[in-house]
Amino acid sequence: MSIQLVTTVAGLKAESVRLLNAKQGTSQALVPTMGALHEGHATLARTAVENNDVVVASIFVNPLQFGDAVDLDRYPRTLDADLALLEEQGVHLAFAPSVEEVYPGGEPLVRVTSGRLGEKWEGASRPGHFDGALTVVAKLLHYGMPAAGLTAGSAAGAAAGGLPAYRAYFGQKDAQQLALVRQMVADLNFPVEIVGVPTVRAEDGLALSSRNRFLSDEERDAALVLSRALRLLEERANAHEPLDLDSALALVESQPLVSLDYFDVVDPRTLEPLAENCRETPFRGEGLALIAAKVGPVRLIDNMPLNS
Ligand code: PAJ
Repeated sequence: MSIQLVTTVAGLKAESVRLLNAKQGTSQALVPTMGALHEGHATLARTAVENNDVVVASIFVNPLQFGDAVDLDRYPRTLDADLALLEEQGVHLAFAPSVEEVYPGGEPLVRVTSGRLGEKWEGASRPGHFDGALTVVAKLLHYGMPAAGLTAGSAAGAAAGGLPAYRAYFGQKDAQQLALVRQMVADLNFPVEIVGVPTVRAEDGLALSSRNRFLSDEERDAALVLSRALRLLEERANAHEPLDLDSALALVESQPLVSLDYFDVVDPRTLEPLAENCRETPFRGEGLALIAAKVGPVRLIDNMPLNS
């Protein structure tokens, strides 16, 4: 079946309810994106298609989460290629609204605040970023919610409580964003299950990102120290050894094209740094290594879940 493009919220609601009814579906999923799609996004979409009857992918470059107008302007817009990629994964509906459709009254006066969790790490380097991202995610989660009005007696109607399941898919690549979305959904009682999808990497380890296209060949090579440093920590954790953050740090700092912003091991839920002892005593439990750096002019983030 070919993908259908809708650009209005009313169109999205009408088409998703029509599809859910036609398929007698019992589940609907949302995959929020900003477009410029790559294999990381494709994996999110495929996972959603495998597990849900109706899948909506949104494509919206959200002005609210960009601190810098230049960054917003130069964000790649590749709608035709994005639609082709989504169709290949079996996505049913692409929702690509205008800025006016999402923010009809201009910038919203009331926003979601990301609180303490949104102030550290990425939030410290990009003030306001997570408030903007969470605000649009809240809106997108409302838009993508399976609508009431399903045919009486349909399979969906017969499903638990009469309501179709609702799931939304986010990448572990943006670990802080994922933690914040989970927190928002829990704290504000959104009726949606948040599904995290592991980071998709190039063969040489570089985490896929829409920003990688801005790296020169030399910078792309240099950027590999980020995933290598994370791998060092992963190997240590798997071997139940102290994490030896200093050696991993030295590896990053040995690369002159890379200017480090932060690198630390944190609790995966609170994102608070783990106690110092993970450096000197064998690592046990759960952690998350976070790294952010500028490689040439391009800011990159990556992370690695650690389990031992
Ligand atoms: P965007 O950067 O387009 O990412 C959309 C989704 O794809 C996010 O959940 C992100 O974590 C995931 N993703 C990106 N690269 C990935 C990779 N290499 N492996 C796995 N998943 C990956 O994140 C945003 O857009 C926006 O902030 C958004 C949530 C859409 C709100 O505007």
